[in-house]
Amino acid sequence: MLNYSAGSLTGRSSKPFALVIFGASGDLTRRKLIPALFGLFKEKALPDNFQIIGFARREKTDDSFREEMLEGMKQYSRFNPVASQEWQEFAKHLSYHVGNFDDPAPYKSLAEKLQQLKDQGLEQKLFYLSTGPEYFINVMEQLHGAELISHGCSSRVVIEKPFGNDLKSAQEMVKALQGCIDESCLYRIDHYLGKETVQNLLYFRFANSIYEPIWNRSLIDHIQITVAEKEGVGTRGGYYDHVGALRDMVQNHMMQLLTITAMEPPGSFTSEAIRDEKVKVLKSIPTPTGEAVQRIAVRAQYEGYRQSDRVNPDSKTETYAALKLTIDNWRWAGVPFYLRTGKFMQTRASEIVVVFRRPPLALFETSQEQLEMHRNRLHIRLQPDEGIHLRFNAKIPGKSNMGPVDMDFAYKSQFGSYSPEAYERLLHDFIIGDSTLFTRSDEVLESWRIMDAITAGWQESPVALYRQKSWGPSESEAILKADGNTWFPLEKAGS
Ligand code: BG6
Repeated sequence: MLNYSAGSLTGRSSKPFALVIFGASGDLTRRKLIPALFGLFKEKALPDNFQIIGFARREKTDDSFREEMLEGMKQYSRFNPVASQEWQEFAKHLSYHVGNFDDPAPYKSLAEKLQQLKDQGLEQKLFYLSTGPEYFINVMEQLHGAELISHGCSSRVVIEKPFGNDLKSAQEMVKALQGCIDESCLYRIDHYLGKETVQNLLYFRFANSIYEPIWNRSLIDHIQITVAEKEGVGTRGGYYDHVGALRDMVQNHMMQLLTITAMEPPGSFTSEAIRDEKVKVLKSIPTPTGEAVQRIAVRAQYEGYRQSDRVNPDSKTETYAALKLTIDNWRWAGVPFYLRTGKFMQTRASEIVVVFRRPPLALFETSQEQLEMHRNRLHIRLQPDEGIHLRFNAKIPGKSNMGPVDMDFAYKSQFGSYSPEAYERLLHDFIIGDSTLFTRSDEVLESWRIMDAITAGWQESPVALYRQKSWGPSESEAILKADGNTWFPLEKAGS
């Protein structure tokens, strides 16, 4: 194992701040946000002077809020058991503010509280919108009305997903929010960008010189991106049934994976330069037409989904989506990008497989099927068992034929098991004001343009069914088969 000091986030420090979390009695706050903030506190990545204020509708005292957060820590934090002394220290920075999101009065009292904190040196005002999306505009307008946010970035705001439900609603939201605050101070979160392995994609591509010459249509045949989840919708049926896999996973997380894989090298490692390049990729993806959607996109539901809690018994919502996209630019013209995601699949695995072109001549004896399965490919495993491995062919000793071998890089054996949670990284970047790992409005809108076309095309097609714990419906094979391709088994899948 190389001797790297665990990748702490302490390198870049922030000024004292007050962070208000709207929707603080919701699941996300206790499951992700407070554990992440505690993680940063423990790593000494927060300034000495900070305050976290939970804002929600339910009546609570500061103490009962702290108690609830501690319960969340016990269940969800990577620092469990939580050392009592450390928690006590951290909990001193927590408080609660009750209020209805659409009532100006609690915003007024919040403004007074924040002014007092400012007088004590907590200069930065930060807001985290973790409410249901139906409240986003309301909360922002109330914050604006109370002069807590304004143009010119006197404060910054994080907004959770989903950012709209389609292109039109996203456009309306962009317009409404930009009436309250500058785009540069609005941080749209996509937790996939906080994952270490997703960030490593940028390093893999742009910190090495050997991949760039092969990272294009001359050597790459196609790219497969899979995000498979092992669980079904569980208790989230009520939410999920209105959303589906395309909006829940593809529009945001998977399109982020695609853009980072396909983007041009940015001129610098700044948030605008990186995001400009990502937007260019999205703009180069042609809008699929109604008739083409039937050939390039499949939606499916796992058997038993309609019987789930709070799911419409006649639901047509997809729990699985597979699609083929193309990027019409010099680097990628003619290279298909196949994407698939599903709930209740055989295993949990997220992987990008870069499949290289076949050798021009088959010199060695092998069956057609072997030739296909032994194609050179690079597996970038995002989760679990994070790592990268390159598959190529080698001569089997004592025989005159060949077999596939792997060159492996595994995070765990190389760097140990330390890895900050995605929300730790993202909250830290938000606190210090680095927006590189957050999505910009033009990215979101371009992505909705493509999703809308697929949703429209799907109106005409049936919803396929797939068995629970399978790799999805057979229909998704047809998308690849039309190009002479097949989904490759995910390496090490089955964990
Ligand atoms: C969320 C989706 O954004 O991402 C969930 O709403 C999904 O439905 C989750 O399960 C997957 O995230 P991860 O980090 O577990 O891959």
